[in-house]
Amino acid sequence: MRILVIGGGCREHIIAERLKSDGNAIYSLMKNRNPGIERLSKDALIAPETDVDRVVSYAVGQKIDFAVIGPEDPLEAGLSDSLRGKGITCFGPGRDAADIESQKSYARMLLEKYGIPGNPEYAIFDSTEDALKYIDRSDMELVVKPSGLTGGKGVKVMGEQLKSREDARDYVKEIFQHGIGHGHGVVIEEKLKGEEFSLQAITDGRRLLPFPIAQDHKRAFEGDTGPNTGGMGSYSMPDGLLPFLKENDRESAMYIMQRTVAALGMENREFRGVLYGGFMLTREGVKLIEFNARFADPESMNVIAVARGNMTDVLYSAAEGRLSGKLEFEKMSTVCRYYVPHGYGEKPLKGSEIKVDEKGIGGTGARLYYGSVNSEGGKLTTTTSRSFALLAKSKQPWDASAMIERAGQFISGLVYTRKDIGTREEMERKRIAGLALHGVA
Ligand code: AMP
Ligand code: GLY
Repeated sequence: MRILVIGGGCREHIIAERLKSDGNAIYSLMKNRNPGIERLSKDALIAPETDVDRVVSYAVGQKIDFAVIGPEDPLEAGLSDSLRGKGITCFGPGRDAADIESQKSYARMLLEKYGIPGNPEYAIFDSTEDALKYIDRSDMELVVKPSGLTGGKGVKVMGEQLKSREDARDYVKEIFQHGIGHGHGVVIEEKLKGEEFSLQAITDGRRLLPFPIAQDHKRAFEGDTGPNTGGMGSYSMPDGLLPFLKENDRESAMYIMQRTVAALGMENREFRGVLYGGFMLTREGVKLIEFNARFADPESMNVIAVARGNMTDVLYSAAEGRLSGKLEFEKMSTVCRYYVPHGYGEKPLKGSEIKVDEKGIGGTGARLYYGSVNSEGGKLTTTTSRSFALLAKSKQPWDASAMIERAGQFISGLVYTRKDIGTREEMERKRIAGLALHGVA
């Protein structure tokens, strides 16, 4: 098939690599010139992924059989609907179903309407005054979220980015004043405490095929400190669980996902693509942090790396609404670590040169995926987003982490990474956290 991959990050790099290895011809459309994706492609168009008319006319011109959408912005812009309107099968939900991610308020209301468990206490506002009154009246620790898309950087949590109720008030004012999150209002929630995990499942709107669970690291710096980011790195384990999770936690999360897909169907917003649930294991059980309507980035790298068999068939059959096949996974741990520009999370250093010795990295057994970088005339430069990721597989996560450490020597430039992801110390901390959350310790 002729497959168009939309998006220019690490997630799309591993997707394109996989679809190509299944024997397809890859075409790509991305806003930055990602050298990894470009190399895999028969043709690449550099254009905004949200320019729906341009993407559709490119797809038609290239006689594309199947389009796979990586990022959330084109989903929100209705790209799937427009491609399907031209008879092109598309992996990724239509705009209405993508609301489950593009409007956090919608996800909360859907769970409530259908009696699906997992919501924390929450309230939704479209005016500053009401939101401020709520903050003044509440005595809970709160989380303030722009309801719309912010690239994973819009959520602020009391006790972390918000030092006081006054900070929470100021942030609410800022969101409304500047229309942060595309002007979709604000969700204010109870702050949940526990360990987060990501469950992704492919769905045709009815059946769900789950991937192993992975855990992202949202905070910029080691020890989970610093600003929230798009995700600094992630790990997964051979049994598809995490050191702090039990099988019944996974079942609780799957139940929430299954009920949500069914509820979307009942709302006439059939969801075809990959649903990603960001959950938190708390002392009160599994709670939903948010849904995303696409593969997670970085966690897509962990799970695609261990998926066996023909991924194209699975994605295509889901997109056609007749999901078939089974996903099987290698029983291996994976660790993925992003390298990001200096200042990332606050004021990222854009346009600075990075050097990557691909051969050297290849010799360590780690894989390199290019992210939001630009490549012109052999020179690689940073954008304001994550630059590239290293991924390794091994029996134990700390061995994968050590492989990445060795591969990191072949990278130079003004970029940084979190070295604590997947280490023995981290895994032990997570195990102990799990005992406490399950009430064992
Ligand atoms: P989101 O963009 O909704 O994934 O939120 C980004 C991050 O903010 C999450 O990964 C959590 O670390 C944190 N967060 C979001 N909602 C809550 C909540 N209700 N309680 C505690 N932390 C949260
Ligand atoms: N890993 C977080 C995200 O994909 O949004």
